[in-house]
Amino acid sequence: MKPSERSQVDSFIVMDIMEAAKAAEAKGHRVIHMEVGQPSTYAPIKARKAVKDLIDKSPMGYTVARGIPELRHGISKLYLDWYGLEIDADRIIITSGSSAGFLLAFTALFDAGAYVGIASPGYPSYRQILKALSLNPVGIPTSPQAGHQLRVEDVMPYRLNGLLVASPSNPTGTMLDYESLKSLATFTKKSSISLISDEIYHGIEYEKKAVSVLELTDRAYVINSFSKFFSMTGWRIGWLVVPPDHVRTVECLAQNMFICPPHISQVAALAALDSQEEMKNNIKTYANNRRLMLDGLLAAGFTKITPPDGAFYMYVDIGEFGIDSYEFSALLLKKENVAITPGLDFDLERGSQTVRMSYAQKTLDIVEGLRRLKSFMDSYSYKKTSSENFN
Ligand SMILES: Cc1ncc(COP(=O)(O)O)c(C=O)c1O
Repeated sequence: MKPSERSQVDSFIVMDIMEAAKAAEAKGHRVIHMEVGQPSTYAPIKARKAVKDLIDKSPMGYTVARGIPELRHGISKLYLDWYGLEIDADRIIITSGSSAGFLLAFTALFDAGAYVGIASPGYPSYRQILKALSLNPVGIPTSPQAGHQLRVEDVMPYRLNGLLVASPSNPTGTMLDYESLKSLATFTKKSSISLISDEIYHGIEYEKKAVSVLELTDRAYVINSFSKFFSMTGWRIGWLVVPPDHVRTVECLAQNMFICPPHISQVAALAALDSQEEMKNNIKTYANNRRLMLDGLLAAGFTKITPPDGAFYMYVDIGEFGIDSYEFSALLLKKENVAITPGLDFDLERGSQTVRMSYAQKTLDIVEGLRRLKSFMDSYSYKKTSSENFN
């Protein structure tokens, strides 16, 4: 037996760092985790309570494949609260995190061999999931001048069946404004390109609110999740919004692929919807961390940063220091016990010049991380001294 060709996807480089960070911790070092892409906070109090209350009272059997109606109606109400949009609850499909949403969306929209455009840099799993489904990811380079977001002129030269946009994006935290998203929506409609919008970081915004593609068109798939704003990564619960005439297709796929999303997590998610004020405290922390990061990184000598509009990442260009990003990250972990992510996870071509730093952790950790980063940059001569790696 041999594994299929399409199953040969790349590993996450960030996993190497997490391993190395764990090893450092096992030796008694205090590691500052700026590599992680998740909140350090708990799920909302009401979500945890709802689960405690129900766990001994219900067999927690399968639910309907699209998810419990109360949750779908609750999410429909969220669209009214957040964007003033009336989204029929029938168009909402609950998924096991947005990761399952990608599987459903890509399978529902594309036949094997289709070409799907994704921004480079971008979230690594887009590429790998597409590949595993016998689809062709097409990395489209973005520029810091365009906030690392796709513009119509970037997309136009490619022959595509689909386009995936993410705003705020991982790894840059930058957003598409209303006009830019509208141009992309208009262009994809005219060119018969299926549009997918990853809106997983909505709710984590600083100066302006993120625009949902649903404010512009019903002819798009939206992918979202309880992982980030609602701080529920491990609960594996998210949702899709699809055009009305696609609901049955996605429902049949969901029935067969997953039977249903985790029942217990649906109960928790329903209660989480009622906890927005609690979650907004986390956003205050991220906003404070963001400000500290922008000032602290500048003070440490990093000048090429595109300020993030949302999410909790800074994508930093370290090209001027003449060191490969993997080596830079390894050295930083070894010398100062600060874990960050080399850009190669996000951009195959240019990622050796960039790193991603997450500021989702507690403010005290961010302050300490910045102190160590400054000390590292002050003592490091910006010259390659030896070949460092994580082992
Ligand atoms: C842009 C983006 N989309 C999707 C995901 C997957 O999230 P989940 O499956 O937890 O909903 C992540 C995770 O970090 C992400 O950064």
